[in-house]
Amino acid sequence: MGIRIYEKEQIFQIDTPNTTYLMGVTRGKYLGHMYYGPRIGDANGSYLLRTAAGPAADHAFQKDKLGFMEGFAFEYPAWGVGDYRDPALRVRDAGGHQVCEPVYEGYTLLNGKPVLPDMPATFAGNTPEGAAQTLVITLRDPLLGLKLLLRYSVFGDSDAVIRSVTAVNEGSEPLYLEKILSASIDMDNDHFQLISLHGCWGRERRIESRPVSHGKHIVSSLRGETSHQMQPFMALASNGTSQKDGDVYAMHFVYSGNFIAEAEMDFQDSVRLSLGIHPDSFEWVLAPGEQFETPETVLVYSAHGLGEMTRTFHSLYRNHLMRGKYVHRKRPILVNNWEATYFDFDDDKLMAIAREARRLGIEMLVMDDGWFGKRNNDECALGDWQVNEEKLRGGLKSLVDRVNAEGLKFGIWFEPEMVSPDSDLYRAHPDWAVQVPGRPISMARFQYVLDLTRREVEEYVYEQVASVLRSANIEYVKWDMNRPLADLGSFGLDAGHMGEFSHRYVLALYRLQERLIREFPDLLLENCSGGGGRFDPGMLYYSPHIWTSDDMDPVERLLIQEGTALLYPLSAMGSHVCVVPNHTVGRVTPFDTRARVALTGAFGYQLDITRLSDEDKQKVIFYNQEYHRYNDLLREGTYYRIASYRENNMYDCWQVVSEDKSECLVTYVQVRYQPFWNPRRLKLEGLDPDARYRLEGTDQIYSGGLLMHAGYLQNMIFGDYGSAMLHFVKE
Ligand code: DGJ
Repeated sequence: MGIRIYEKEQIFQIDTPNTTYLMGVTRGKYLGHMYYGPRIGDANGSYLLRTAAGPAADHAFQKDKLGFMEGFAFEYPAWGVGDYRDPALRVRDAGGHQVCEPVYEGYTLLNGKPVLPDMPATFAGNTPEGAAQTLVITLRDPLLGLKLLLRYSVFGDSDAVIRSVTAVNEGSEPLYLEKILSASIDMDNDHFQLISLHGCWGRERRIESRPVSHGKHIVSSLRGETSHQMQPFMALASNGTSQKDGDVYAMHFVYSGNFIAEAEMDFQDSVRLSLGIHPDSFEWVLAPGEQFETPETVLVYSAHGLGEMTRTFHSLYRNHLMRGKYVHRKRPILVNNWEATYFDFDDDKLMAIAREARRLGIEMLVMDDGWFGKRNNDECALGDWQVNEEKLRGGLKSLVDRVNAEGLKFGIWFEPEMVSPDSDLYRAHPDWAVQVPGRPISMARFQYVLDLTRREVEEYVYEQVASVLRSANIEYVKWDMNRPLADLGSFGLDAGHMGEFSHRYVLALYRLQERLIREFPDLLLENCSGGGGRFDPGMLYYSPHIWTSDDMDPVERLLIQEGTALLYPLSAMGSHVCVVPNHTVGRVTPFDTRARVALTGAFGYQLDITRLSDEDKQKVIFYNQEYHRYNDLLREGTYYRIASYRENNMYDCWQVVSEDKSECLVTYVQVRYQPFWNPRRLKLEGLDPDARYRLEGTDQIYSGGLLMHAGYLQNMIFGDYGSAMLHFVKE
């Protein structure tokens, strides 16, 4: 890892262990993108700073500046001076003009990685290998008095490049930021396929791929959260890219609100890939002397297909984004009462679950929605965070103490950002709901959104959650959010600043969660949004796992978890064993398959364990033991996608290898049985080719090379939804 500056040529070379990112200044002022790809040696790449038609001579440039502007590979393109592709930056001045031409001014090289105020951000590791370096390039538009700081950070143990931008108004008039993305790169098209993740409630993060054609391809959210529908991620992959082969250029946004990811191919077949806060529903007023920080975008280049891209994201997030004592520790096996009871529970019922849970080896009871106010259905009481003593006789502390006395930890559900119209809170403070004066508020799940952009609301929300946590030994919080934002308006913002609402909301959310984990450093926080509607790297900074989806059916989960694990470490995915028939899709699947799919992530149960058959209770005991055996490997190991049910319509397979290659665990799920079908060859990855591996529980011994190149022969399992877990251990 290292950042090199060629002063004379004004070229900046950013090296990670396996990649190089190159940019330079041309004509003494324009910062251009030159190269991103496999690591190169000393770069003498000035020739790469060109327009599509080759370096334009000075006289030609003077005569036809627009010809240059619309073809140049800009590192951070701005709107208004003839680059007609979608810009990263659009600024309006006090006179109403939308013209900006930032030019190169200088650079600073820093050891380490600056923090972003009030925002999630990657950080350097504790080891010399994880140390960071940051290049800050200054651009300026002198007429506007606008200074831009483009930041590029790298870590010694990662192939990711982290970008973000600061805009500073050094002029004497206000500036209006209409669009300020975190990253943009211009590249030549290489028959790119665009890869993104789409979905909805119950079917989050499905992988999708399509060819890049001329024009714009956009993936975005304007829901005020990242959303179930789209993930703030986009990758361009060379044609034919597989898990193991192909060039992949990926961007992922460390943010939890509105975003836009875009690939635009122009008439010269140049492709601009960009990512940042969505410019719709955004404007930021920059008064003289003020500055604005964008969130971070993570860039990953992989020369070895999607698999390597995935592993770069996984190790970056595990080592440089996720925090807290549980990141590298087994999380308690939990039972959550939501699908066991919904709103219909009391302390007796919860204690019955707790007693049985302890007997079966479960370690925590999480009490979900319905414990507060008059919350006996989802039509009321959000905001009234006082325990319902008709349900929990003796109060919360008494329940927690009793659960603890059974030997279980206790966790609790909140939906702190919301208010029900039928609540004491709303009756006392109707103006605290997000709304436009005079317009009826659009309801979703019978609830409104609290206006976190007002400091008094933020303060109230914090105190409500914190005082419950202070009142009893609560070791886990599930922070839910069950509707998107709409009717954007705040009584706390004047007309000139109303465009800042959405971003201010996200900043307040971050402040709340930061404060919570600082006051309760041992708390295990799980983020959730009606399933996986706010599963993003921003939330991962506060909670080491996130609820992946309300759909726990193992077949649906294959697709959801494949898409989620494309970017996120397995340990980031909340994953529970459900009851059958499954409540979302009605499917009946074997307990073993439900448990094996759930074991992959942050493990637990979401069913009424008091009502399981004796046979299933034995399985709960067994899979809890399996969790203790395999969780260190699954949480810390290296993930390989071996086969995809999405592609073959028959079976799914993934593998996790320990860092020292001494063991690996393969999970195979056969969704459909098919007669007269040869055993499947599962070609494993990441093993020591010369080592001998024993398949645990058998006397079968294979060389690592054999398993990787010839493959393990997995027989078809008769019937649908069968599964197997194969543990190979080095002899
Ligand atoms: C949505 C979550 O995803 C569920 O797990 C559950 O907590 C409900 N909300 C409760 O209202």
